[in-house]
Amino acid sequence: MEQYVIKGGTPLRGEVEISGAKNAALGILAGAIMTDETVTIENLPNVKDINVLIGAIEDIGATVNRIDAHTVEITGKTINRLSVDYEYIKKIRASYYLMGALLGKYKNAEVALPGGCAIGSRPIDLHVKGLKALGADVDVSYGLWSAKADRLVGSHIYLDKVSVGATINIMLAAVLADGKTTIENAAKEPHVVDVASFLNSMGANIRGAGTDVIRISGVSALHGTNYAVIPDQIEAGTYMCAAAATHGNVVIKNVIPKHLEAISAKLIEAGCLIEEYDDAVRVIGEGRKLTNTHVTTLPYPGFPTDMQPEITAVLAIAEGTSTVTESIFENRFKYVDELARMGASIKVESTVAIVTGVSNYTGARVSAPDLRAGAALIIAGLSADGITVIDDIQYIQRGYEDLPTKLSGLGAQFEMVDNERDLQKFKLKVS
Ligand code: UD1
Repeated sequence: MEQYVIKGGTPLRGEVEISGAKNAALGILAGAIMTDETVTIENLPNVKDINVLIGAIEDIGATVNRIDAHTVEITGKTINRLSVDYEYIKKIRASYYLMGALLGKYKNAEVALPGGCAIGSRPIDLHVKGLKALGADVDVSYGLWSAKADRLVGSHIYLDKVSVGATINIMLAAVLADGKTTIENAAKEPHVVDVASFLNSMGANIRGAGTDVIRISGVSALHGTNYAVIPDQIEAGTYMCAAAATHGNVVIKNVIPKHLEAISAKLIEAGCLIEEYDDAVRVIGEGRKLTNTHVTTLPYPGFPTDMQPEITAVLAIAEGTSTVTESIFENRFKYVDELARMGASIKVESTVAIVTGVSNYTGARVSAPDLRAGAALIIAGLSADGITVIDDIQYIQRGYEDLPTKLSGLGAQFEMVDNERDLQKFKLKVS
């Protein structure tokens, strides 16, 4: 059983390079099958979620050529199945982007239903509404979600709730629909914009991505392209929080500082100094006191829900009482019990966590309930007094590339171990 083991208390110092954005890459990989020509995608993060989706794409018959850890060539011409198995969906919900992609290209697709997940119920009603509006017959039954159409026709779609997944799925299908589609109340997240830019580089005609209203003029076919994925906003934010919590001084490189503004703003309120460069940010927590602040998660450009556990991990050791309000997912505070095992004082009332700062964490054995909650435990472990052992790291590996190398590069005492002997060896080494 693999575990992360951390001897906390070392301020992180130095530079770390951020990988490509997982959530952008998932939409882009799905979109890549929409042409029969070859598509090359660069700057893919080498993380489990990406590799699972690549597996799903191979499984429907597309030709996948892995050039290196971060580059893949995909040729959709050889696709021979329009059905995506539960095996993939259960590992990674975003396999459902293959619905929009297959429906757009072949006007027919069947994808297993994703069900709920650790952070709350995850309905797909808005995806269904959007695809129906484009003229597809959509059926949800027997654990499957299938959609068919003689032709897709552009439409006017209003999303009742801002949804990244629904915006991307509808956009994928609509690029090959006849006529014009408008998506109102669209998600504005950087990865929505990146998927749109990618599709445009394949010949799609999408305007307005990054605003509330996305306008798509359908085209008859897409062509091959060579595209590099944007940097990962959430991975960058995680290192920013780790720098803050350890009172370190870290340059986070290969980022788009604009995408980090909400995170930077909260870290500044909490007492850090942030320097912005063209494609890097420096977080200085060294010699500075962390103080309380208040955070509410919101769709972009608001504070990302995917950063909620990580900022809570920082505020739990900031002086005073902070509040963290989760407005996107209803069940995203499960990790606070694990942070409590490390000495945090957090009380959850409905969608609000009331965080009373303590002077420091104490190392403990904890378990990652999901991807970003796992990141919060790492941040806590890095700043804790003593040794923290994290179980269930498979969740964390879904979305963070090469944590041991990146964190060690910043001076952390952090390793992945997979047996008791190595765990003891680490403990001896750091004691
Ligand atoms: C995406 C991200 C995830 C992030 C989330 C919110 C990917 C692969 N995942 O997830 O990391 O936490 O955005 O920024 O990019 N909703 C409905 N009906 C729907 C779809 C969504 O009611 O059909 C609701 C959800 O329950 C939730 C809200 O809309 O309350 C936002 O969900 P959504 O943006 O769709 O999340 P994901 O795309 O699943």
